[in-house]
Amino acid sequence: MLFSLAFLQLFTLHNAVAQRHDMNLMSFMTLPEVRALKWEVNYHHRSRVAPGYWFFTPYSQIEPEQPTQKYQKYQIGPYIYDEDGMLIWAGSPMWDNQNVFDFRAINKIDDQPHLSMIVGSEVDGSSKGKGVIVDTHYEIEQQVEVLDDLHDFNIYEFNVLPGGKSALACTYRSRPVNMEDFGRPTEESWVISGGFVELDVATNEVLMQWESFDHIPLHESNLFHVWDTPMGPPGWDYAYINAVDKNEAGDYIISLRFTNTIYGISGKDGHILWRLGGLESDFDMDFIFSKQHDVRFVSSNSTHHIISIMNNASDERGNDENISSALYIEVDTVAMMARVIKRVNRPDSSLTRVYGSVQTLPNENVFVGWSERGYQSEHAPNGDILMTARFASTRYSTYRAYKGEFVGRPNQPPDVMASVYGTTDEDITTIIYVSWNGATDVIEWNFYAQAYDVGTPVFIGHADKTDFETMYIVDGYMDRVAAEAIDVNGKVIGTSRIQRSDIPSNWKAVGWLGESDPTPGDPSMIASINKGTDTTANSHDSMDSMAEIMGNNDSDKSSYANAKEVTNAIYKAHKLIRDMGGLLIFILAAYIVGGVLYGTYRMRQKSKLRSYQHVPLEEGLPLDDIHLRS
Ligand SMILES: *[C@@H]1O[C@H](CO)[C@@H](O)[C@H](O)[C@H]1NC(C)=O
Ligand SMILES: *[C@@H]1O[C@H](CO)[C@@H](O)[C@H](O)[C@H]1NC(C)=O
Ligand SMILES: *[C@@H]1O[C@H](CO)[C@@H](O)[C@H](O)[C@H]1NC(C)=O
Ligand SMILES: *[C@@H]1O[C@H](CO)[C@@H](O)[C@H](O)[C@H]1NC(C)=O
Repeated sequence: MLFSLAFLQLFTLHNAVAQRHDMNLMSFMTLPEVRALKWEVNYHHRSRVAPGYWFFTPYSQIEPEQPTQKYQKYQIGPYIYDEDGMLIWAGSPMWDNQNVFDFRAINKIDDQPHLSMIVGSEVDGSSKGKGVIVDTHYEIEQQVEVLDDLHDFNIYEFNVLPGGKSALACTYRSRPVNMEDFGRPTEESWVISGGFVELDVATNEVLMQWESFDHIPLHESNLFHVWDTPMGPPGWDYAYINAVDKNEAGDYIISLRFTNTIYGISGKDGHILWRLGGLESDFDMDFIFSKQHDVRFVSSNSTHHIISIMNNASDERGNDENISSALYIEVDTVAMMARVIKRVNRPDSSLTRVYGSVQTLPNENVFVGWSERGYQSEHAPNGDILMTARFASTRYSTYRAYKGEFVGRPNQPPDVMASVYGTTDEDITTIIYVSWNGATDVIEWNFYAQAYDVGTPVFIGHADKTDFETMYIVDGYMDRVAAEAIDVNGKVIGTSRIQRSDIPSNWKAVGWLGESDPTPGDPSMIASINKGTDTTANSHDSMDSMAEIMGNNDSDKSSYANAKEVTNAIYKAHKLIRDMGGLLIFILAAYIVGGVLYGTYRMRQKSKLRSYQHVPLEEGLPLDDIHLRS
């Protein structure tokens, strides 16, 4: 009765809260500040996708919100997910909730995996942004600063070249130019140059610098026309660079959106080797592209280049084709012919108006970021659609999306939190949550508890990791808990700090029926009583085995069914808590969980737990310094 009433109450509250909270965002007990985006993932041919994680940088707006000049907290920035849409790393706390761009895994620096990204500039001018390379521990290894005379680190490209010694970045510079090219030699207009630099990653030294001012006349632009009036600074964005890449021979390709052209550029002296597309194409072409993005060398030799591009085919001003596509183009620089050798159309037959990316995976699969709403797809080399996914929320996009292999081993220990619920000594229960932001290869968690601050940790159970956060439920009042991360070889790869469990500030108010408040149990006693009765609730799959363990007797059907019910109820409560957050709700949920357990555990006639006299903390030993295993 108590339970159903409270549940009804919670449910009502839940609906009210739902309107104020975005259900398309995840939340976690262990990282309460993080609100990670949920994905909708669709597999068409699961077995044929390449291994790897997804790397992307959700943003809701490029400029921060007025008047706070801040972004929505913990929803934007660099994120890693696995191919089921499960969160692996929330990087927003690392960058104080700034927008981040071009976030990718790089496996070509040395034998260690790395990540690179562009960290956005601050509107108040306190930071111009930078290119950052972090290591497998998410520690910054290199920071490439923006050049002094530039406004910011351009958000389009931070392309760390093989070996990791240098990186390419796009640049925007503004300056007045004579309009002679438009037959108006007496006039001057400001224009923005689309250029690029190759920078030494360690020293920031400029190794190569190229400006469209010096090479691309005004009349190639489809934005700035002969009839347009001159502009003051910053001026007409006549070229608009959005990608740069380099081949082994040392030459570059760039994509200029407002000339609809891809340029081959000599690495020796910067002269234009060839123009592909646009008004002055050097090639015989039987196809068109426009407003392209993300040009890459796929392969290259002295006579032929295979390049990939995102052919947006449209922008804010209109579209030239009906479907955006990823194009693979063979460019023959002897016969001066360009042919499409592969076209991957956007699976939903729509247009990518902003941004987008095309990545060729090691197994030749094609991974395409279509940008808006995080829409992305993976294709077999023959173009077959293997996977499509997008954000559950409509409020976010990502400029580019990448897939790649990565090993994340955070230096921070796993995060643990625990809460104690119950109405009597018989049903008192501790729920433990654990997560490890950024760790890629945890397959299982071991849980420990100890009675005193200097006591011996007692193993109280384990749970498979099947989601970012794992919940573990154990009988009794566990005052100090901790968790160990286990990899596929059974090796301990991380150990949390010892965490004291949260308890209600007023036990009576959350349904405690005892005369006096409960006292912490001794995990060694509880563990022996509990042998085989531990419960985990981190996945739907484990529900059966969990119930089996809880029931502790396969043939005892009623106990089995009952245990399953409890587990489900707890799991539901857990989900509600996750979705809502907030202390009030949490306490209310505690009430419910207590109620459910109360009913069931009575029926099971479980062995009674002995209360344990709590021994006060010893002086002089800060809790954080005590690790379960040194
Ligand atoms: C360059 O690559 C093309 C294929 O793209 C190939 O047909 C040609 O033989 C290659 N040339 C050299 C010199 O390797
Ligand atoms: C496609 O990409 C461009 C990048 O230049 C993007 O800004 C544009 O809005 C998208 N649609 C385009 C280009 O037409
Ligand atoms: C776009 O689709 C319409 C109707 O399906 C068709 O008539 C038109 O020719 C297409 N445009 C292009 C550029 O393919
Ligand atoms: C399991 O259930 C069976 C039948 O209900 C009973 O005979 C047996 O004693 C039970 N075993 C335990 C360990 O409770």
